[in-house]
Amino acid sequence: METIIYRPSDVLKAALKLQQGELISFPTETVYGLGADATNEAAVKKVYAAKGRPSDNPLIVHISAIEEVGQYVKQVPEIADKLMETFWPGPLTLIFKVKEQAFAPTVTAGLDSVAMRMPDNALTLQLIRESGKPLVGPSANTSGKPSPTTAEHVFHDLKGKIAGVLDDGETGVGLESTVLDITDPERPTILRPGATTKEALEQVIGNVYVDQHLISSDEAPKAPGMKYTHYSPNEPVVIVAGDKKVWEKAIETYKRQGEKIGLLANQDILHQFQADVTAVYSLGENKNINEASRLLYSGLRYFEATQATVILAQAYTQNGLGEAYMNRLQKAAGNHFFE
Ligand code: TXA
Ligand code: MG
Repeated sequence: METIIYRPSDVLKAALKLQQGELISFPTETVYGLGADATNEAAVKKVYAAKGRPSDNPLIVHISAIEEVGQYVKQVPEIADKLMETFWPGPLTLIFKVKEQAFAPTVTAGLDSVAMRMPDNALTLQLIRESGKPLVGPSANTSGKPSPTTAEHVFHDLKGKIAGVLDDGETGVGLESTVLDITDPERPTILRPGATTKEALEQVIGNVYVDQHLISSDEAPKAPGMKYTHYSPNEPVVIVAGDKKVWEKAIETYKRQGEKIGLLANQDILHQFQADVTAVYSLGENKNINEASRLLYSGLRYFEATQATVILAQAYTQNGLGEAYMNRLQKAAGNHFFE
């Protein structure tokens, strides 16, 4: 299959493909999604096949207006109204109890709940409206690889397997949305951290809980997708948590083992050590967690085209957006730290 790169002015052509049951990757504020008509079982099955995604991992349904939610879910609790008012469109996915037969069966992978989100990208909101359908949209990467933050990343992973990519440049946030389970409205629970932080949620609805699995590795995750290996480039990733002395020691250690080092760190660290390593990718200014999050996945992908045999990646403080950044980096590194 030829995979077409659609320009923003081609949005109607891309919408037509979706109506015909084809797959179109779309931009969002977080990462690129792999779009298909969520009411068309054959189309949804193609999504799992193209990504190589395990069939017990349900998909997020993307809609273009808050009012649409009521059509698909059993009940819209009061906290949902507040959350949607405040955070939609934006990087927050809400889990509701789903109405029977609202979507093609494979969308929810057998669960009685569904994940819904309204992405903050004008072009994609237009794509959803023009297609006239709710769209599934898992991240548009091969399962297990870092999520795509550019149309080129999507093309690299899925060329020949999907009808097209709607190209709207680089995504802004760079990490997938926060997933919040509100099926028990008394106990809203974060299943996946993202750019809509716990602190921001609590300002609107009070106490928010965190899936124990995100805190203790003994618990099974509530979001099926969180149990799989994720975000992994071909080279092993090691997280470096510490000051320049720790970096110096890490670089020395891996060099002595004959490794070729790729540095994924902020400009300060790169300046200091770039002469000692094989490849570098900047996570932006020192201490800028927004930039580091935006650049993390493209950085992990970058080293695949270099000689590096190990990636040393920078830790960030685990609060606010740092929760999401460290969650993804720890998965990419299989929780491997150099301290
Ligand atoms: O930012 C995002 O959310 C991106 C963009 C493209 O919108 N999409 C995305 O989709 O990250 P995906 O499929 O890669 O991740 C969806 C996550 C998975 O961890 C999945 O297990 C979880 O949401 N999920 C989906 N439906 C669920 C449900 N009913 N209950 C619990 N977790 C669910
Ligand atoms: Mg994904």
